[in-house]
Amino acid sequence: MTNNQDEAAPAGIDTSLPHSARIYDYWLGGSSNFAVDRSLGQTFEEAIPSIRTMARENRRFLGRAVRYMAGEAGLRQFLDVGTGVPADGDTPSVTGIVAPDSRVVCVDNDPIVQAHARTLTANSSDGRTVYLQGDLREPERLLEDPVLTRHLDLDQPVGLLLVAVLMLVGDEHEPVDNVRTLLDALPPGSHVAVTHPSQDFDEQAMAEIVATAGRGRMTLVPRRRDEVKAFFGDWELVRPGLVPVMGWRPEEAAPQDPNAAYYWGGVARKPA
Ligand SMILES: C[S@@+](CC[C@H](N)C(=O)[O-])C[C@H]1O[C@@H](n2cnc3c(N)ncnc32)[C@H](O)[C@@H]1O
Repeated sequence: MTNNQDEAAPAGIDTSLPHSARIYDYWLGGSSNFAVDRSLGQTFEEAIPSIRTMARENRRFLGRAVRYMAGEAGLRQFLDVGTGVPADGDTPSVTGIVAPDSRVVCVDNDPIVQAHARTLTANSSDGRTVYLQGDLREPERLLEDPVLTRHLDLDQPVGLLLVAVLMLVGDEHEPVDNVRTLLDALPPGSHVAVTHPSQDFDEQAMAEIVATAGRGRMTLVPRRRDEVKAFFGDWELVRPGLVPVMGWRPEEAAPQDPNAAYYWGGVARKPA
């Protein structure tokens, strides 16, 4: 795998190793990716030809979850951790349509996300979305970040998005504890949306994905449904519960095969 030296990378962006934000951007048809990301992205596609569909289905779930949180649940504050490269269908763009008075904090640990966000925020003056470079593995630090505390009122309910990110945190970083720290910091009425890839759908395909990720020196940990459920703690799953991501409140005709994307997805509410 080689870096394509012809591609100009923003300052501080390492294009010698693949990054999940950029691979995901490649699958979604974006342009914030480099040869090293496309190469690994294509190798993943050889193992699972429907992987682009899975990325798209996650984004669509994110849209449905945000619309639910802003609509039925009436939330106007969102914290999107592992937000990805800014693009259509992400949390700021969905809230911009359905609840433009919302405040959104987008967190990602990949500097490319900040590089794109700087361009975006330079072009938009509404100030309703802020980006911060932060890490899910350091939740206390994240919650104390002045960018977050100035933008969100943590005494009011928040919609927390953890969509297609927890599989990038290995068990040695205690992701369940890290998520619990975030959940504990939010008041009753808050909601959390989680999606997570799982070997429950196709054991062999997932084993190939994990092996491919390892060759690209990326962490990727699929988890069983019970393990994914643990991320919600004692919050109450809203209907229809933790289900294949394509089957979570589909807005169009129900998918022919809801198991086609190997992800569990659900939304839960913090009880009073
Ligand atoms: C697969 S993308 C998902 C993007 C978006 N949530 C979505 O579903 O469309 C995963 C994102 O999580 C980010 N990420 C990975 N590990 C992270 C961590 N420990 N803390 C914060 N962000 C992380 C990656 O940089 C990437 O942008």
